[in-house]
Amino acid sequence: MCGIVGYIGKRDSQGILLGGLKKLEYRGYDSAGVAIHTKTGLELRKSKGRISELETRLEAQPLSGFAGIGHTRWATHGKPSDANSHPHTDNEMNISVVHNGIIENHLQLKAELEQLGYRFVSETDTEVISHLIAHHYKGDLPEAVRKAVSHLRGAYAIAVLSAHEPDKLIAVRWASPLIIGVGEGENFIGSDIPAILEHTRSVYILNDGEMAVLTRDNVELMTLEGNFIAKQLLRIEWDFVMAEKGGYDTFMLKEIHEQPRAYRDTMRGRLLEGTGISFPGTSLSARQIRGVKHIHIVACGTAYHAALIGKQVIERLTRIPVEVDLASEYRYRMPVIGANTLVIAVSQSGETADTLAAMREAKLAGARVLAITNVIGSSVAREADDILFTHAGPEIAVASTKAYSSQLIAFYMLGLFMARSLNTIDRAALTEMIAMLERLPYQVERLLEDKESIRRIAERISGREHLFFIGRGLDYSLAMEASLKLKEISYIHSEAYAAGELKHGSLALIEEGTPVIALATQELLLEKTASNIKEVKARGAYVIALTLEGNEELEKTADQVIYVPRTYSLFTPSVAVVPLQLLAYYAASIRGHDVDKPRNLAKSVTVE
Ligand code: M6R
Repeated sequence: MCGIVGYIGKRDSQGILLGGLKKLEYRGYDSAGVAIHTKTGLELRKSKGRISELETRLEAQPLSGFAGIGHTRWATHGKPSDANSHPHTDNEMNISVVHNGIIENHLQLKAELEQLGYRFVSETDTEVISHLIAHHYKGDLPEAVRKAVSHLRGAYAIAVLSAHEPDKLIAVRWASPLIIGVGEGENFIGSDIPAILEHTRSVYILNDGEMAVLTRDNVELMTLEGNFIAKQLLRIEWDFVMAEKGGYDTFMLKEIHEQPRAYRDTMRGRLLEGTGISFPGTSLSARQIRGVKHIHIVACGTAYHAALIGKQVIERLTRIPVEVDLASEYRYRMPVIGANTLVIAVSQSGETADTLAAMREAKLAGARVLAITNVIGSSVAREADDILFTHAGPEIAVASTKAYSSQLIAFYMLGLFMARSLNTIDRAALTEMIAMLERLPYQVERLLEDKESIRRIAERISGREHLFFIGRGLDYSLAMEASLKLKEISYIHSEAYAAGELKHGSLALIEEGTPVIALATQELLLEKTASNIKEVKARGAYVIALTLEGNEELEKTADQVIYVPRTYSLFTPSVAVVPLQLLAYYAASIRGHDVDKPRNLAKSVTVE
């Protein structure tokens, strides 16, 4: 995710802003920039690439001033470029803004502002904010910011610096975190604690709909209606390493907890008032969908497991036949690709060599390629014909968690969009499914409240060297992901098996105490999976079942039961994956492994 830092005080701000941005580097970014109020007014330095490039630019043309804002950008709208880097300004260079989040209605606001004569110089959603503030400025900066944000729909944490009132910094939070650091004769804004920890440990945490007006000696907190509020000043006791991980022990645990936000961001602006799905910014049209006769999905690792679920989602909703291939196999198996084949490449990083090679192969054969990726400006994004970005934010842990589940959300939306285009789903059913999609982040939040029970189960399996995951249909695909997650970080050998297939050979491996994790979330297959549970139980397996709330029947056979909330059957993997990620996580930490950096693995696999 993007990072924000702001400073107002008695010291020169350039070094403080750069220092703060460097502390946010670990979060991942593609460009950086600062705006400082200097003797001549607002001045900006921005640069695509590393902070060191911004630093070089600042060395050549330093900025001096006591108030400034800075930003590390993780692109969501518009490729990484100098022009798209923050801060953004109005046309008169009076207002500068840095922003984290996504403005859903930016296209509409942009059109309205252009009608009023405002000129846009970037492809970002953020730029509307600086023009809106300029438009509403009538001598009162906080008032102009309040009016401007009243037009915004979406998520935003913003910091504003204006040449009109250079003795103030304004911060506003809506659905994207923002904190205010309080110092002696100086105050700070940060999207995260590490950005300001070097300077102060006293912070206000803004809630949604709150605004802060910072001067050198004061911080005023108010609602977006302009009512002053009192807040407790908190003391941060975390050390820097803890602060980087948001207080979690590892990035993986942090990223597991970020899933509700990642789901919301991936859906943001794409679910239309409960009645439809649209992908603004992508050229994928209903007409193109109607021309598609076959779909091939190519991906590697965890993304491949998301693709296996994507296949079932698309086939069930549209009846278009879908094949899923490991990207490393696809390119060498001479796939039959026609002009009416849509190839979907799925990749978190957008840089996986095999996935790139597979999509190039498909393009050469004349297919249209749709990418599902998390990284704007990545090779996969650049080479695809259409792109559906997941907005999971940067994933740092090698083991993919929030990127996988956001890929599922992308497939759900894509499946529904295709189904609507093909008329294979009616409006009422679509409305119902959209409502269920919107509930998913809340259901995941609820699941994350009870980590302790999963940790206890992890204790039980962490000493074992082999175990099985079994499931049918979507649960089988999910079992493959659960098994990979466990292997990758705990180094426990596990196999995912289609529950009905065990008796054709692998049942021979089940002996007294062998852990079998049985996924039984699909109502229609429940009885069948229950019989398979009995099969392994009869051979001495220790069975941990994962099923939907209300299916207490399984308690009679399984040794332990994990419950997940009910949703539309196709959406269940996006809730059921959470306890499975936690299980892998706790098993690995109990075994004392470096969970974020498992042995032999890299985050991005750029070689064949
Ligand atoms: O960046 P990609 O999604 O293309 O990466 C694909 C795999 O390398 C990746 O999912 C890998 O399997 C993860 N480490 C699994 O957690």
